Amino acid sequence: MTDIKRFAVGNVVLYQGDSLAILEKLQSNSLGAVITDPPYASSGTSSLTNAQVPSKKYQNNDVKNKFPEFMGENRDQRSFAFWASLWVSQCYRLVKTGSPICVFSDWRQLPATTDYIQAGGFSFNGIIPWDKTESVRPAKGKFRCQAEYIAWGFKGKCYGDRHPVYLKGALRERVNPREKLHMTGKPVAVMDHLVQVVPPGETIIDPFMGSGSTGVAAIKAGHPFIGIEASPEYFEIAKKRLRATYRDSIRKA
Ligand SMILES: C[S@@+](CC[C@H](N)C(=O)[O-])C[C@H]1O[C@@H](n2cnc3c(N)ncnc32)[C@H](O)[C@@H]1O
Repeated sequence: MTDIKRFAVGNVVLYQGDSLAILEKLQSNSLGAVITDPPYASSGTSSLTNAQVPSKKYQNNDVKNKFPEFMGENRDQRSFAFWASLWVSQCYRLVKTGSPICVFSDWRQLPATTDYIQAGGFSFNGIIPWDKTESVRPAKGKFRCQAEYIAWGFKGKCYGDRHPVYLKGALRERVNPREKLHMTGKPVAVMDHLVQVVPPGETIIDPFMGSGSTGVAAIKAGHPFIGIEASPEYFEIAKKRLRATYRDSIRKA
């Protein structure tokens, strides 16, 4: 097993290491939501293209801001779904009945994603299409790949009456390159929307936190947060970002 590093500030706890190894150590029925953007292991139509480093799959050659590479991108589709059902099962054990799960996917891994969240125990209740707008590069003779998806469900029956929110089920938000701290970082505005499904005070876990965008939204909304990241570079980025966000939230309170 790899070494595990831990960092805590206020009610934010971050771990650096393999998520499966860390999830195994956390307490059952203690958390209130899973909101995560796992590696997609996608953008390859063959085992050869899928074996490329993430920057070859997800960054244009002319991109100015070079990000560190990240982990978990080289599984084929079947082993990706099998592995994902393992970490989802652990998350299922960790959350209380009624807790939501929201998992990002691209178009290629969407069928695997809706399967693996159910294989891990959660219900599959729907998909939020996230339209990244026309800021996504057009493709000659094809449709622009401008959407990603958030598959969502619950452990058992949703919180419902305890948290009666009525949330938008489709999002339109461009990726702002100036805000991005990860090669495939998600806009905080998108994460702000997702965390609204979580009742006040409940702890949100993101087992693939990258630069910590879920954590930023969780802290801003007043939730305790647990984040896990395998890459030491992104762990450091998330640590600095979430420490600053937490301190800012205390100043504003
Ligand atoms: C798609 S990125 C998350 C980006 C994040 N949403 C953001 O906005 O910065 C997925 C992250 O999961 C990490 N990862 C991959 N496999 C992992 C594993 N087994 N355990 C922990 N982290 C892992 C990768 O290094 C990567 O940073």
